[in-house]
This record gives sequence, structure tokens and C-alpha cells, in this order.
Amino acid sequence: MDTIPLVHASLGKQELEAVAEVFCSGWPAGQGPSGQALERELAERYGVDGAVAVSNCGAALHLALLALGVEPGDEVIVADYTFPAPAHAVRYVGAVPIFADVRADTGTVDPQSVADLVGPRTVGVIAVDTVGLPADYAELRSITDRYGLFLVEDAACTVGATYQGCQAGALAPVACLSFHGRKGITSGEGGALLTADPALAADARLRSSFGIESIFNQAQVVGLPIPVFTEIGYNYKLSDIAAAILQVQIGRIDELLDRRRACAAHYAELLIDDELITVPHVPQDRTHAWQSYLVTLDPSVDRAGVAADLRAQGIGCGHGTWACHLQPVYETTQPCPVSADLFQRHLAIPMHAELSINQVERVAETLRSTLRTHARPYRTQGGAA
Ligand SMILES: Cc1ncc(COP(=O)(O)O)c(C=O)c1O
Repeated sequence: MDTIPLVHASLGKQELEAVAEVFCSGWPAGQGPSGQALERELAERYGVDGAVAVSNCGAALHLALLALGVEPGDEVIVADYTFPAPAHAVRYVGAVPIFADVRADTGTVDPQSVADLVGPRTVGVIAVDTVGLPADYAELRSITDRYGLFLVEDAACTVGATYQGCQAGALAPVACLSFHGRKGITSGEGGALLTADPALAADARLRSSFGIESIFNQAQVVGLPIPVFTEIGYNYKLSDIAAAILQVQIGRIDELLDRRRACAAHYAELLIDDELITVPHVPQDRTHAWQSYLVTLDPSVDRAGVAADLRAQGIGCGHGTWACHLQPVYETTQPCPVSADLFQRHLAIPMHAELSINQVERVAETLRSTLRTHARPYRTQGGAA
């Protein structure tokens, strides 16, 4: 049986050739020629002064909060329905994540919920472009401006998406990208911090390298300057091997996103009339990067049963993303009912640039029939099924 994976990275010959060039250069570590060239390309593409290539998006979020001066005891409002990297980053710096509920139709953070949570200890907001769909930045910016808060865009999943004509990744003063293997472009693991503020970028770059300037650059200087450590930094550098892969992948963003878009459009055509499913909603003022394709199941459907049947038939699937406030590590009693509901009812079905239209059709057909096996009949008012 032909299996259809949930995710599949699009890496090939061009990327291998780029890696071979780094091998020949003799500098596979970070902040070398490929890393610096990648940073220049990212800065140009996103129209920002500062782009810092790092080992992953979680590191970018951590560096962003350090550079923004977040301190122990500060509160940062974070979108609740997401991979928990933003809330983890808040905890890395000893601050307190406050979970904001999300819109039921998009899964992105609800600006009203953010506004309701602002308090005397709030210093900023991390919005998330949920599984590839940008959040409501006009409303979010007006809230953060009103209260003098910082706004960070977690654009981990949104390469190639847009909001009101602007690119995701450039929708807030600081944005963090992921190049993990599931994302629109990838180097296996990888990330970047983007900002219009050169001082913030310099701070993040320094802390991504143990608190000293690029070792590669220092080695080019004539003489023997001894680098000094000015920060307790981390090793969050992206290797030049990964940077070279990403330079190729950046050139493929449109090609790869077009393929994901075609799959999403075909899923929507095949599934939109099924009363047991709601297909993703994309508001008119934005476009989706389709990191994931999440359908919302009717409450009568047993999701675990559907998933087991799909996997038994060779079709990859998953639960969507996380309702962070329900994760035991945060020990919170804060309610986010919309996020909790999506966490129960979303089902991720295969979405990647290697998916063929025939495979999309097989997934949709199998899903439709599996849903019927696992839908409980609604009870009538009298209690009979
Ligand atoms: C919204 C979001 N933020 C951050 C991350 C973390 O990214 P990385 O694995 O590059 O650290 C992810 C990973 O899936 C994510 O979905």
C-alpha cells in the first residue's frame, strides 16, 4: 500500500550541491560566509535591517525576549493555541506566560482576549501565525501601542503568507521564523530573528554566540585581537551547512508554496460540503502558508477512531496543535475555552509540497468514509439515538 505521510520535506539535488560547497569551503560552523550571506538575503527579503540566523525558532524567541529586556516576574501575553515554544521562551527568562484565547474560525489569537488580559505587570505580547495563517496584526498593534507593550510575531509556520499585502515575518517589530523540517522551507532544524532595530539584532546575534563576536570574522583580522565575552550568551548559532541549504530553499519559496496551495484548494473542493467537517477559513485580507491543513471535526465524531483508521490505511494524520494552558508544565488554571475546543476537534491531514493531487483525492475520500464509521448518531430530545 502506498503510504501518504503527514509531512515530507522538499530537499534535493540543489541543496546537496550547496552543502558540498560548504564542505569545500572548510567552514561548516556558524556565522561564517554562508550564514552571513543568508542573513543578508533574509534582511533584503523581509525589508528589515536586522536578520539573525539561529539554530531554531525557540532560540529566536528566547533571544528576542532577552533583547527586549523581559525580566523575572514580568507578564507576557501569549497565544494559547500553538506549539508551546512562545510560552516556554517566556519561562526561560523567568517571566510569566498569560494565555490568550483564540478565534474559533482561524485559531489565531483573539485581539479582544489580549486586550482583556493586559495588567500592571504586562510587558508584551507574542502573537502566533497559527499553522501558517497570520494573526490580526492591525488590532494587535493598536493594543500594544495603546499600552506601550512590545509585539513579537511568531512566524514559525508562515513563510510566504501575507497579511493586508505585507509578508508574514514583517508584521511586528520583532519576528521569529522556524526552518524545522515541517515548515515551508527547511534546513532540518533552523530559525531566524528579524527586526527593524539593528541594536536589537546585534544583541541577539551576540547572545547567540556565547556573548562574543563571530569567530569567523575575528579570524580574518590581521593581528591577534583576543575576543572578549560581554554577555552570558548561548550557542544558538545556525551552522553554515544549514545556512547554505536555506539559501537554496529561499529561492524555492514560491514554487513550494504554490504546490501546497494547490493541495489546499483541492482539499477544500473535496471536503467543503461534508457536514461532519469544517475546512480552514482564510479571511480575505490574508493568505495562508499551509504549514498544516487542519479540518475541524463535528463534535459527534470520535477523532481517535478516525485517526487510527487513517493510519491503518497508510495515511498520516495528527491532532493539530496544542492548547498550551492545558499543558501540565505551566500549572495554570486560566481558561481558554475556544483553544481547548480546537485542541479536541482539529485533525491534521497530509500537507506538504511533495503531495500529489491523486494523493489529496485518496486522503479526502478515505477521510469522508472513515468519518461516517466514527460519527455517533445525535440523540433526540427524548434521549433515543
Ligand atoms: C508556532 C511555533 N513557534 C515555534 C516553534 C518552534 O520552532 P523550532 O522547532 O524551530 O524551535 C514551532 C514549531 O513547530 C511553532 O509551530
